[in-house]
Amino acid sequence: MTTPVQPGSESAAPSAASRPWSPDSWRSRVEAQRIEYPDANAVEREVAKLRSLPPLVTSWEIEKLKQEIADAQEGRRFVLQGGDCAETLDDCTPGAITNKLKILMQMSLALVWGGRKPVVRIGRFAGQYAKPRSSAIETREINGARVSLPSYFGDLVNGAPFTPEARTPNPHLLVRAYQHAALTLNFIRALVEGGFADIHHPEYWDLSFMRHASLPADLRAQYEQMTRSLADGLRFMEVLGEARVEELTRVEFFTSHEGLSLLYESAQTRRVPRREGHYNLSTHLPWIGERTRQIDGAHVEYFRGIQNPVGIKIGPATSPADVRDLVRMLNPTGERGKIVLITRLGAGRAAERIPALVEGVRGAGSPVLWICDPMHGNTVSTASGLKTRSFDAIRSELETTYDALRGAGAHMGGIHVELTGEDVTECVGGATDITEDNLHTNYATLCDPRLNYHQALELAFALARRLSQNAGK
Ligand code: PEP
Ligand code: CO
Repeated sequence: MTTPVQPGSESAAPSAASRPWSPDSWRSRVEAQRIEYPDANAVEREVAKLRSLPPLVTSWEIEKLKQEIADAQEGRRFVLQGGDCAETLDDCTPGAITNKLKILMQMSLALVWGGRKPVVRIGRFAGQYAKPRSSAIETREINGARVSLPSYFGDLVNGAPFTPEARTPNPHLLVRAYQHAALTLNFIRALVEGGFADIHHPEYWDLSFMRHASLPADLRAQYEQMTRSLADGLRFMEVLGEARVEELTRVEFFTSHEGLSLLYESAQTRRVPRREGHYNLSTHLPWIGERTRQIDGAHVEYFRGIQNPVGIKIGPATSPADVRDLVRMLNPTGERGKIVLITRLGAGRAAERIPALVEGVRGAGSPVLWICDPMHGNTVSTASGLKTRSFDAIRSELETTYDALRGAGAHMGGIHVELTGEDVTECVGGATDITEDNLHTNYATLCDPRLNYHQALELAFALARRLSQNAGK
């Protein structure tokens, strides 16, 4: 008997997935966002160097994260992924790293309170050095003349200053970025190991911004009550000697970055003893960006062969068939914990797009974790040409996505945010009341606008309230 083929269900994915693969098989494919280096031999020398250096993360950490993502797929954990849009080599300082951990830590505790489940903390750090650009060339007017130079593709590729020297892609930056990722991760591991993230330390509860005049009194009261009850609850569980308290508060950070430079990613992709397959040992969770997820492109070719869990950005142009084919291609065996779909649809489009996308994923027949990136679909330019995002749009996309996924019979198992632990002024709105007029005060990002410390915490509290309405149901 033959099984009838459903109209529209045929796809190139399953047959392609059985093709031979190697860490370098992507090189024969069309590579979106490809960097043209002036000296190909120098590139291969740096890649060879990168290949010889030790890994940044281990296969057992990667497998542990995959298991935690599998738990989140089944509703038993919640994922918080966050950090800079673009890490820079200059920002590899103790203060910047500590502040990033601190805000992720504080947000995660609010989410533990709201969702009543352990939170998996994943930084956009220790490798988030490569940036896709909408145009390969940037043109500026300098002294009345139009000057065109390569765009800034992140510190892994070239420098931000608008000079020919800085903007020329420099392959040595592949190794420099790796070294800074290693320094960052070394410090993070030492802090975590040394008890930095002890939740009893009062600085984690520095909520002074809640007294800001523009925060409505009822909201402030709710927030204060939430932090008090979380602290009391944890203390109470500790007194009872509850095993779960450790599970809820144990601090662990995983790393993630966009796997944009396939030279960098593949040079750290290896076999390890006693396990099947190849691991990307530069990070725990690499993701495929919105501009590089072509089903027959180099990035998907590279990603289909690694054992790591894989994130895929899902923008508004993604069709249900696209997402189905991507899931089939990247997870042909239907492994649990393998695929994280990161929606970034825009506040106004999420509700309308999500049901069909969920349906598309059903067609792939394997589990995924839906998480919402409420940043990249909500970027706007001010009259003076600064890129910004509104806190309200960000919050609205999170809430809309949360509801739309529930309505479609799926669930939002995490969030992906661009944030910093510093007091920057890049996104407008929130209790601290940043407006277009004062964006210039401390606009520090080299790429997309990030939530500052207060805005990030406020967002976590808003989401925690939403999660708490459904926790335990
Ligand atoms: C990013 O995460 O910084 C990014 C460029 O996202 P996207 O690929 O979704 O546009
Ligand atoms: Co970004």
